[in-house]
Amino acid sequence: MTANEVLSVSPIVPVIAIDDAARAVDLAHALLEGGISIMEITLRTAAALEAIAAVASTVKGMCVGAGTVLNFDQFERAEDAGAQFVISPGATPSLMHHASHKKIPFILGVATPTEIMMAQEYGFNTFKLFPAEVVGGTGALKALYGPFPTARFCPTGGVNLQNLRDYLSQPNVLCVGGTWIATPSRIAKGEFTAISQDAQEALSLLKVQ
Ligand code: 3PG
Repeated sequence: MTANEVLSVSPIVPVIAIDDAARAVDLAHALLEGGISIMEITLRTAAALEAIAAVASTVKGMCVGAGTVLNFDQFERAEDAGAQFVISPGATPSLMHHASHKKIPFILGVATPTEIMMAQEYGFNTFKLFPAEVVGGTGALKALYGPFPTARFCPTGGVNLQNLRDYLSQPNVLCVGGTWIATPSRIAKGEFTAISQDAQEALSLLKVQ
């Protein structure tokens, strides 16, 4: 899969922080039930790699990736665990260099034109815009479209039910990411039915014109 294909799996990419890997498979099924077949499990918890491995090996139809990948060592661990894509809130030259030789897509975070230009030198043109609301939200995306018409984005950071439609109506946005669908507290409490319902609600909002 290419990075653009990964970000076209679903208009919404749930960003997950999970403390108990044993809940990962139920969570993946809950998201699938709600109509979302992609999830980004962030390496912010000790359970993340185990959670990725559990989903990758047992949940058919779920495209699982690793998020908050800050260096190449984490990239390789995520890949070994079975991650189908890797997302980072930013990037270093070394991470971009190594990741550009990998088969699985790397979606790096950018917030400025210079970061986009540097990433393009390494062959990247699909980005996470982070932290989206802080760096200008849809206004930033509109402004970036002029000089970078072929760049595509997944805005993340401050995206929610109120603003996701505005983001998704931008021509350079493939999908949005966020923690609101499967919050750490909902996951910890095992509120999987509510997570499915939230996913359905968000998707149904996108169908309303
Ligand atoms: C991320 O790492 O992608 C963000 O923390 C998600 O931001 P949100 O919590 O505002 O959705």
